[in-house]
Order: sequence, then structure tokens, then C-alpha cells
Amino acid sequence: MRIAVIGTGYVGLVVGACFAETGNDVVCADLDVRKIGALRDNKIPIYEPGLESLVVRNQGQNRLTFTTDVPSAVGGAEVVFIAVGTPPDEDGSADLRHVLSVADTIGQHMAREMVIVTKSTVPVGTAERVQGAVARHAKHAFHMCSNPEFLKEGAAVDDFLKPDRVVLGVESDHARSVMAELYSPFVRTGRPIIFMDIASAEMTKYAANAMLATRISFMNEIANLCEKVGADVDLVRKGIGSDSRIGPSFLFPGPGYGGSCFPKDVKALARTATEHGSPLAVLDAVECANERQKKRLFEKLSTSLGGYVAGSHVAVWGLAFKPNTDDMREAPSLTLVAQLLAAGATVTAHDPAAMEETKRKLGDSIRYAESNYEALVGADALVVVTDWNEYRHPDFARIKNTLRRPIVIDGRNLYNPAKMKSLGFVYDSIGRRA
Ligand SMILES: NC(=O)c1ccc[n+]([C@@H]2O[C@H](COP(=O)([O-])OP(=O)(O)OC[C@H]3O[C@@H](n4cnc5c(N)ncnc54)[C@H](O)[C@@H]3O)[C@@H](O)[C@H]2O)c1
Repeated sequence: MRIAVIGTGYVGLVVGACFAETGNDVVCADLDVRKIGALRDNKIPIYEPGLESLVVRNQGQNRLTFTTDVPSAVGGAEVVFIAVGTPPDEDGSADLRHVLSVADTIGQHMAREMVIVTKSTVPVGTAERVQGAVARHAKHAFHMCSNPEFLKEGAAVDDFLKPDRVVLGVESDHARSVMAELYSPFVRTGRPIIFMDIASAEMTKYAANAMLATRISFMNEIANLCEKVGADVDLVRKGIGSDSRIGPSFLFPGPGYGGSCFPKDVKALARTATEHGSPLAVLDAVECANERQKKRLFEKLSTSLGGYVAGSHVAVWGLAFKPNTDDMREAPSLTLVAQLLAAGATVTAHDPAAMEETKRKLGDSIRYAESNYEALVGADALVVVTDWNEYRHPDFARIKNTLRRPIVIDGRNLYNPAKMKSLGFVYDSIGRRA
């Protein structure tokens, strides 16, 4: 099939590369000239395991091409995916400017009957607005499809190639059969394609992210309460996660959720709910709990330093909002660093993948270390913010010998509190007995 993917970010690039991998002719289009230039040279602008080899192989075999010429990408396609960003507007609602401008371009430049797929996360009713924008110019029949994306950054290629499910909102037989054929290589092991109407598909994406964010905020608040009442959230987590109605995933407390999706999607869904006079009070609480949680690491550090944060030097391990990505959007590390700098501390940070991205955001307001151990030199304390695998089993003797004071704040509950105490650390984590 001839496919155009408009918007070549985290989602568009993965989608394009994976469809090319199954033999389709894919053109990925983006307005970002530098990004497209780099991709043509096989330079991947994001850190995403497994993506580079897919891009290199499929570009080498001419199944995957990159262009800044969006109209020509649209003109050659039978299926076009809209995968541009939908950042939050000032009132929290999703900003649909990019989506609607692409819709306009599609209407003007489509050259045959086509399926138009909204892949971006968009509020209910957006496909209808896209349909309207395309119809203003369209000279050919077209079919709308809402195909929300559930990939996880850090495991995006695997998630796309082996999805838990594919959700397709369609309202014509043509769209249904084209999309079923396109996705058939990815669901051969029986993973379902769930067909539904377009509004329900649009809603499903927000409901999924809102549910996941709710679990995180819920567990973070339970963890905070565990600290007060002398319970251990690790045990509570296992105790509730073994209930088949609850399940074990997404129950790990931490420094709050971040990333490009949960914060904006929670806000956008809450906004939609308010606009429709059906407020989602639970989401206001989820967001509020998350904002509080992002400040917990600073509070814990401040306590461990006896309140003397000013003049201290702090090592931070992990900057990306989660491991296996370089995405810094709304990362809890940014909140911590901002609090530390405002309180008069200095910071040296390390991250296996997100240093360049952090430099773009924070410049030389902090120092950057080549290795996680180098970050400890001259530091009064270590704060672990992101649970990269390489931080899980560090050389504790080396940490203790390098830090000026043996203070470790573990924002991801990576280490054993009893062991840390026996090694002589002043150790704190989230919701566990010290
Ligand atoms: N990142 C994720 O993990 C994830 C997962 C599921 C869904 N989503 C959703 O997918 C959408 C895209 O997210 P992302 O993280 O890939 O965003 P991104 O910011 O990484 O990429 C968006 C790209 O669209 C391009 N763009 C903007 N306007 C354009 C236009 N008019 N024509 C061509 N290109 C244009 C930008 O230059 C950018 O490269 C969002 O709606 C997001 O909510 C993201």
C-alpha cells in the first residue's frame, strides 16, 4: 500500500518505519527541514531502541522515504496518517491547529480515493472537523478513520509490531477493509483489532491514558500515606496487584508522571468533560496529586540535608521522564532541578540518553557528567530520578566514598532500605520504611 505519514515525531517515525517493514511504500513528511535532512542521512532524531535499524534497512530498500513536501506526500498516497503534535492550549484543551492545517493540505492535494487516519491523540469530534476541512477542497471520495496510538516511548517499535490491540474507529466498509489489511501482519498471533465508531475510538485513547495516570497518582498518594502510618508500599503494591481485578502493572510509586502524553491528555480530557457539563472530578485530583508528587524528592532531600539546601551540591541520576527514552517533556527531573536551583543548590546530572535534550532545555544552569559516578564527585547527596537499568545495581562502596555525605534519595525505590542503612547511607525512598 502507498502510505503517507504526516508528522515525523516519536509516533510518526515509528509508524512509518513499521509499516515500511511490512512491505508498504511509506513516505514520512514533516515541516522540520533539519529533522528530515538528518533522517535522510539515517540519523535518528530521537532515542528509541530498535528504530534506527528499521529506518536504515527500509530507507536502503526505498520503501521508506522522507520529505518536507507534504502536498506531494499526500498526492501519492492511498492512506494518509495524521501524526502531528497536539500540544495543550492555554486552557488545557488540545491545540488542533497542526491537525487541521494538515487536513486542509490533504483536501487540496489528494489525487485519488483515500483513507484519512487521525493517529494523533485528539478529542472526540476531531475526525469530524478533519472531515469538514478536507471536504472543503476534496475532488475525490475519502474515508475517515480514528486510529489512536498506544505505543510506549522506550518500547515503541516492539509495541507497534506486537500491539496489545489495535483500535480502529471507522464508519465505512472501505476504511474498515483497508485498515484491517494494513494491520493484519501485526495481529497474526490473535491480538484483536477492535472496530468501533469514530467517537468511541477517540475517547478510548484519552480514557486509557487517564486511567493509567490515575493509577500512578493513586499509588503515589498511597505511598505517601504509607510513610505516615508506618506501612510499606512495596508490600501493599504486591498485596493489591495480585488481585486479578487490579493487576500488577502501573502500581509503582515514584516522583510523579511526566512525558508528552499523560500530563496533556489528562488536562485535555478534563477540559472536554467540563465543556460538556460532565466534569471529571477524579482527573482534577489526579493532576493535583501529580503536581504535589513532583515536589516530593526535593522535600525529602531538604529533610535529609537538615533544611540546608542552599550552598549544597546535588548529583542527579536520570533526567528523562522514564528510562529508554531521551524525552524530557514534563519530566519530574525538571521540577527537581528548578527547585534545587531556586533554593541555591548546584547540580551535576547524568542520563544515559537525555543529556543533549536536557542541555537544550537547561543550558549551562547545571553541570553534566560523562558517567553516573562522575556526577557524584563533590556532591552532598545523590537523587535517583529515572529508573534506568544501569542504576539498579551500582557500586555502593564507590557511591559512599565519592559523595561528601552519604545521602541517597531514591525516587524509584531501586535499592533495599535495610541494605542501604547497613551500608551507612542516609537513605530515603517513596513510601517504604527507612
Ligand atoms: N509520544 C508518544 O509516546 C505518543 C504516544 C501515543 C500518541 N501520541 C500522540 O501522537 C501525536 C504526535 O506525538 P509525538 O510525540 O510524535 O509528537 P512530536 O512533537 O514528537 O512530533 C510531531 C511532529 O509533527 C510535525 N508537524 C507539526 N505540524 C506539521 C505540519 N503541519 N505538517 C507536517 N509536520 C508537522 C513536527 O515538526 C514534529 O516533528 C500527539 O497527538 C501525541 O499525543 C504520542
